[in-house]
Amino acid sequence: MAKSKPASHEVEISRDRLAELLNEDLSREYQAIIAYVVYSQVLTGAAYTDIAAQLELHAKQELDHALIISRQIDYLGKMPAVMPKPVRTSKDPREMLRFDLDNENETVRNYRDRIRQCEALGEYAMAEQIRQILVQEQDHQIDLASALGEEVPDVSGGPRVRQLRRRR
Ligand SMILES: [Fe+2]
Ligand SMILES: [Fe+2]
Repeated sequence: MAKSKPASHEVEISRDRLAELLNEDLSREYQAIIAYVVYSQVLTGAAYTDIAAQLELHAKQELDHALIISRQIDYLGKMPAVMPKPVRTSKDPREMLRFDLDNENETVRNYRDRIRQCEALGEYAMAEQIRQILVQEQDHQIDLASALGEEVPDVSGGPRVRQLRRRR
């Protein structure tokens, strides 16, 4: 029996399905806004001064992304979602930054898929808007990885590579 493909990795999709996936992206943007608003204020101590200021900037950029994504959903004739994905919290600063980095990695993977999907539907202007968001999300990844003293994670594997990895 044929298994249905994981939701976000479809390349051949309808406009309705694209709107559904954009609503998932919007919920991730709400999640990011909330996480950055809170984390930027509770990360204290000299070691975290720089990253706390960066997280405040991220919060504002995530709001811009949410506005752009909801405009695309409205353009596709659908109602933008109102619920954020769950936000994890921790008292440990490194763990907070880790949660943020995990979320950014997931966001980057999804927007890369979304650009391919928009282009498959001939929605080139939408693909361009998402490309511009993706540039900022990759900057967020770099800021967080640097604060954690880590290499920027490689999330560049295509849909097939990721599915194989997941099966392990
Ligand atoms: Fe964002
Ligand atoms: Fe981000």
